[in-house]
Amino acid sequence: MQQKGKLFVSFDLSVIPNKNIILAVTGGIAAYKSAILVRRLKDYGFDVRVVMTHGAQAFITPLTFQALSGYPVHTELLDPEAEAGMGHIELARWADLILVAPASCDTLAKFAQGLADDLLSTLYLATKAPVWVAPAMNQQMWAAKATQRNLQTLVDDGVHVIMPDAGAQACGDVGLGRMPEPEQLAYQVREYFHKAQRAIAEKFGLLAGQHVVITAGPTREAIDPVRYISNHSTGKMGFSLAAACYAAGAKVSLIAGPVSLDTPNGVKRVNVSSAVQMLDESLKTLEQGCDIFIATAAVADYRVAQVSDQKIKKSGDELEVSLIKNPDIVATIAQQAQRPFMVGFAAETQNVEEYAAGKLVAKNLDMIACNDVSRKDIGFASDENAMVVFFAEQYHLKKRELEKASKQEIAQQLVESISDALRRKL
Ligand code: C5P
Repeated sequence: MQQKGKLFVSFDLSVIPNKNIILAVTGGIAAYKSAILVRRLKDYGFDVRVVMTHGAQAFITPLTFQALSGYPVHTELLDPEAEAGMGHIELARWADLILVAPASCDTLAKFAQGLADDLLSTLYLATKAPVWVAPAMNQQMWAAKATQRNLQTLVDDGVHVIMPDAGAQACGDVGLGRMPEPEQLAYQVREYFHKAQRAIAEKFGLLAGQHVVITAGPTREAIDPVRYISNHSTGKMGFSLAAACYAAGAKVSLIAGPVSLDTPNGVKRVNVSSAVQMLDESLKTLEQGCDIFIATAAVADYRVAQVSDQKIKKSGDELEVSLIKNPDIVATIAQQAQRPFMVGFAAETQNVEEYAAGKLVAKNLDMIACNDVSRKDIGFASDENAMVVFFAEQYHLKKRELEKASKQEIAQQLVESISDALRRKL
């Protein structure tokens, strides 16, 4: 794992995609805070469905939660209509975490006893997801022996109890029993999933299970059987990235133009010469389920219109060769139905960031890493690089700067950038 703080200038790791939360609201005045809690959970990228007990509906209406969560609110266990939408067993399976906030005394008692006489208590028994309870009640009820006994049972059963705050209560008492603020609860839920994600990444690698395809090196565009047009690309960046992706747990296919580099360990390499060949091989990988496509190749923009079958003889003082435009590989892949997560590179000599951001949009990429090749100390043939990376994220661009470092180090940072961006996009 990389030391995140050290490597990145600014980055927001706050969003957790693809996780489902059931927020169960029970009867208590703190139920009004649960409306904000839905908002905060959604801000973090969670999908939230709300379950309400009958008691909760005395304090706040299902309509409020429906509007905030974007889903009908689940209130009944034995309602055929509700069961037809998403039955209680399906709901129990849907959840990645059930957060009961506020959790009333009655609900805690039901959970502790294993009753199943309403939707929430049945869900509690039917789910494999972690269950969190945020008890909120009058301080005397909190202190009552029966409540404490039930809580101990729940802790023993593996329920996570979020301790109530102390302070002034709605009933006029002062003491323990206030539900923590929605921001605090949502933050704790987010941290729980972040920790789980970090643990998986540490164990299996940041790109575990992903098929990464990388184009690298220059292309060679034949003029005749002995001559060609090409460029100075060495392929080092693409090869370093291939090694870094493999180290991060990915399956890696490297489509390499003519370069004199050894194939990194564990990487499947296909050698190509021209841009058209590179495109053909790239398209083939889509059928093999490419998840991430990284275009580091310095593809020749033009190829010779009529490649001569025979060596062109020296004749006059001038030779005219007509060129036609090559296909844009990365842009073509980005247009396909099975579009992978798309990463491009841009080498510019002026207005670096502006041009790179323009290419990100024009080529329909998710991310672009650009470097200033007018700088003599980095880039093309150098072993070092420095980059600015742009991410296309829901109608705006995010930027991250990677300071000058070896191409291997930069490759590691790009892998992290890709993994983080993917996670936010899923
Ligand atoms: O347009 P430009 O060549 O600057 O764009 C650079 C990015 O586009 C790189 O990721 C490069 O690999 C990719 N590219 C491509 N096919 C081309 C030209 C560029 O995939 N014909």
